[in-house]
Amino acid sequence: MLAIIGGSGLTQLASLDLIRREVVRTPYGEPSGALTFGRLCNRPVVFLARHGYGHTIPPHRVNYQANLWALHQAKVDAIISVASVGGIRADLCPGTLIVPDQIIDYTWGRKSTFHDSSEEPVVHIDFTEPYDAALRRRILAAGAAAGETLIDGAVYAATQGPRLETAAEINRLERDGADLVGMTGMPEAALARELGIPYAAINVVANFAAGRASSAGGICFDSIDVVLREAMGRVRRVLDHICEA
Ligand code: HPA
Repeated sequence: MLAIIGGSGLTQLASLDLIRREVVRTPYGEPSGALTFGRLCNRPVVFLARHGYGHTIPPHRVNYQANLWALHQAKVDAIISVASVGGIRADLCPGTLIVPDQIIDYTWGRKSTFHDSSEEPVVHIDFTEPYDAALRRRILAAGAAAGETLIDGAVYAATQGPRLETAAEINRLERDGADLVGMTGMPEAALARELGIPYAAINVVANFAAGRASSAGGICFDSIDVVLREAMGRVRRVLDHICEA
């Protein structure tokens, strides 16, 4: 069963035929909300709203461990993350959909591993390729089948939030090699890898990053809402095609 973790702009899936909602407890506390089980184009899917169904949980307070453990308990075999980002690279303008292939993690203070006990042998995961290659290909193929343009590959910078970045921080991220910036990609991707669940993302550019292009004088929150509302319609179409394939 496929899991979809929806971020800002995607707190529910209209085309999901709802089967049941399940409140789950995990050894790591409570997930962001109930797991919503349903069918998308007749395939079983479970949906979880990363920031809660009322969009009340900020990026640094999301219980990533509980979310990932809950999906693991539900025996999902793949996770697609949908998350909005700021575009750093000049061609990544608002509304662009991207399937990133790399991550740089700038977050701090988040519970970023399930292997945190001094009573078990130390566990290291290979994270050279943080996203699952086959799942990325599946998303890109679904995008092509849906007639939607998805950019193949970009470096995602995960920042702590919840504040947006300064213009100088964006310049630094660019020098580091980042193409786009978001606040929730880590530790989500690493926890999925620890659990052995294939994980990939669809990033939606909500705004130019701080100091860039139309964000040169500041970031306009009203236009973010407009951009996300339109772009999430395209993301939903891609998700429908993933399930149809
Ligand atoms: N920075 C970080 N996260 C984001 C942004 C941004 O500009 N836009 C949407 N999520």
